[in-house]
Amino acid sequence: MRAVVIRSFGGPEVLDVLDLPVPSPGTGQIRIKVAAATVNPVDIQTRTGALTAAGLLPPQDMIGIGWDVAGTIDAVGPGVTGFAPGDRVIGLSDRLALPLKAQAEYVVLDVDAVAPVPDGLDLVAAATLPLNVLTAAQALDLTELSASQTVLVTGAAGGVGGYVVELAARQGARVVAVAGEKDEQLVRDLGAEFFVPRTVPIGPAVRDLIPGGVDAAVDTASIGIEALDAVRGGGTFVAVLGGKAPLPLRGITVRNVWIRADGARLATLASAGLRTRVADVLPLEQVAEAHRRLEKGGLRGRLVLVP
Ligand SMILES: NC(=O)c1ccc[n+]([C@@H]2O[C@H](COP(=O)([O-])OP(=O)(O)OC[C@H]3O[C@@H](n4cnc5c(N)ncnc54)[C@H](OP(=O)(O)O)[C@@H]3O)[C@@H](O)[C@H]2O)c1
Repeated sequence: MRAVVIRSFGGPEVLDVLDLPVPSPGTGQIRIKVAAATVNPVDIQTRTGALTAAGLLPPQDMIGIGWDVAGTIDAVGPGVTGFAPGDRVIGLSDRLALPLKAQAEYVVLDVDAVAPVPDGLDLVAAATLPLNVLTAAQALDLTELSASQTVLVTGAAGGVGGYVVELAARQGARVVAVAGEKDEQLVRDLGAEFFVPRTVPIGPAVRDLIPGGVDAAVDTASIGIEALDAVRGGGTFVAVLGGKAPLPLRGITVRNVWIRADGARLATLASAGLRTRVADVLPLEQVAEAHRRLEKGGLRGRLVLVP
């Protein structure tokens, strides 16, 4: 089968599509025939060696690429219940140090990392859900927000930020979105009550809207201290990148979200009718082109690779 791997760090040219043996599911695992696998910022951080430099990914000869997958189960290992060959599923490959990950013709996942795809949702759109929606939900958990409290979301038009806006609004929070001016309508449609353009100093602009500052922030654009300035004393701040969390000034609790696969939660989120956004669909062989486009910025929605 064909699979995307790297054997050295560098630019998009280090991405290889190799012919490798089809993996077999072990106990408690399923094998998915991949229909769609998205390209995410973590793929770029893996490819450049940034994750290895940060101590998140041990050095190894071959590193598989890709976290999100949608497809059809074609084999199940011993002890698997609740899923069978033929089922349409989405899943998350959340371990970094694997030689084979989601951007491949087949992927093996633990059964508790997958969820059924609801009827009516096509597999390309479904593939955009796992990493972004689970990160958003797990980040919101860390804010400990209650209904009617206020939350700042930076990078609100992005993959993770968009779902933070949508989920926070659904749970009754009042959302202040920071994004580019051309994205104001998009983030308002997702549920933002307030909008701050990314070009202005965020702390003062937010405090003009919410006197005293917001209760919590989810900083998906990794703005750091400027976004912390918008949070009230004693509030909560959630960072999405290691090393990008600001110091906990003014009694603010600063936390870092670290995504983990959670099939049960993913099932609930996938059937919640959240918006899916696909920027483009490319063949697996064009993975390097997908990296170039993601690195350039300005995409709205995920790039999806089809093997
Ligand atoms: N810790 C975890 O578990 C975890 C999990 C998933 C993702 N992440 C991280 O979360 C971050 C966001 O991921 P993503 O998938 O949402 O990326 P994304 O889809 O590329 O979205 C990032 C968004 O931030 C916007 N942005 C950039 N600079 C900004 C600024 N100064 N002010 C406001 N918005 C700004 C981007 O706009 P433009 O496109 O116009 O530049 C884009 O809309 C990445 O760093 C990713 O690695 C962490």
